[in-house]
Amino acid sequence: MLRESYLCLIGGEWAAAESGKTFPTINPATGEVLAQVPACDAHDVDHAVQAAQKAFFAWRNLTPVERAFYCRRFAERLRARADTYALLDALDGGNPLQMMRRDVSLAAALIDYYTGLAPEIKGETIPATSQTFHFTLREPFGVVARIIPFNHPIMFAARIAAPLIAGNTLVMKPAEQTSLSALEMAHDVKELFPPGVVNIITGDGPGAGAPLVKHPLVRRVHFTGSVEVGREIARAAADGLKTVSLELGGKNPMIVFPDVDLDKAVAAAFNGMNYTWSQGQSCGSTSRLFLHSDIHDEFLGRLMEKVKAVRIGPPADEKTEMGCLISQKQFDKVLSYIELGKKEGARLVAGGGKPPQPELQRGYFVQPTIFDQVEYRMRLAQEEIFGPVQSVLTWKDRNQLVEMANSVMYGLTASIWTRDFSAAYRMASEIEAGYIWINDSSKHFPGVPFGGVKQSGIGREESLSDLLSYTQIKSINVNLA
Ligand code: NAI
Ligand code: MG
Repeated sequence: MLRESYLCLIGGEWAAAESGKTFPTINPATGEVLAQVPACDAHDVDHAVQAAQKAFFAWRNLTPVERAFYCRRFAERLRARADTYALLDALDGGNPLQMMRRDVSLAAALIDYYTGLAPEIKGETIPATSQTFHFTLREPFGVVARIIPFNHPIMFAARIAAPLIAGNTLVMKPAEQTSLSALEMAHDVKELFPPGVVNIITGDGPGAGAPLVKHPLVRRVHFTGSVEVGREIARAAADGLKTVSLELGGKNPMIVFPDVDLDKAVAAAFNGMNYTWSQGQSCGSTSRLFLHSDIHDEFLGRLMEKVKAVRIGPPADEKTEMGCLISQKQFDKVLSYIELGKKEGARLVAGGGKPPQPELQRGYFVQPTIFDQVEYRMRLAQEEIFGPVQSVLTWKDRNQLVEMANSVMYGLTASIWTRDFSAAYRMASEIEAGYIWINDSSKHFPGVPFGGVKQSGIGREESLSDLLSYTQIKSINVNLA
């Protein structure tokens, strides 16, 4: 499963960091070192960007449909090797194996969606005057940089179709905690794409990520990760006047009215936390649960039963439902929020620490954790924890509820539960979020734009607008006289 060595892919060739430096990637369930990975710096970044630039001219001269053909074969390959990718992500990232298989198929489905949209890379004609003819072209930027986080490694690494079909070439940097599936993907990329069209480099944020964003030949940057780094990237991009899209954090509300089918809503509150997908480490997790006071006790009781039944175990085990957090840093962060919640006066009603099983003691495992009696101004209810910690708040008055729900700096997702569609619709129009479920949670759908408002980001992914965001418009005016 693991390769003897992991190298970057630059210009279709395997490359170590020029400095010779590497860094270890660990299995967060055991602490064991899985492999050494190249620690790229500004020199390697420059090589990768130059290679992408060199490949750009031939790539952009293909038609969108021809470029989509490459991507289609890549999606087939992902599906064929889903087990390998899923196992690597389970080992390297701590997410449960069965869900990592699903991540591979979600990635492939999104590629299929974009390949179908290839003919939409097109312009318009504009009847501005009768003596002139005006039309627009949609052209690629050139070299696109993609910097991605640890929580869904292969799913994010494989999101290459939109920039590529639009005619750009790519330099992609996976998260330092989870480089292996991206470097494994490099083997398929090397075989299936012309050299230099997709370059994959590894390294930490400041060492490899920062010079990538700053490189003058990089004209378009996509970043998924923390708000802090998102701001840094936006600042760096401002200096170079680059186009950026940012997919950042969330502190997302799930709002439950008293008229719901409790079993379904409880299941959605559980699924919305992504406990069994990423141990809650997802920007879209509905980590603030607003329960109407009439159903609060019954709802919470059933939810507590549900989280207590979760099978926490080694991520690479077929039967495991919930794995472990990514790192010591993330583990410490989550535990410090649990301590903070207690200090702030919230009531811990489930979880709260490491699971007791002896075989899990070496890893960064944390039980699904629920706090009740959370007040909306508490830091527990305002800040993104990025782990398995759910805060329960109680509401009676819907206008006050809207105020509480909108009180955070984030605005990514929300989930609204009621049988009264007009109440749900009114609520959805007042909630500050880019992506809302009514009577559902957690799910993404190819073609439905995903992204945030406020500090949750800029731009929308998984949609036609995402594809078009990797193009720029050129207007051509023809004098017919
Ligand atoms: P991070 O934002 O530091 O890392 C994400 C990616 O950005 C990684 O590939 C990293 O190498 C790169 N990076 C870091 N600094 C950079 C820089 N200055 N320039 C360019 N690239 C840079 O996230 P990290 O440290 O893994 O997690 C910290 C917190 O961020 C989490 O606790 C969570 O709250 C949040 N987060 C949110 C995510 C989301 O999907 N919204 C994903 C990952 C983290
Ligand atoms: Mg790792």
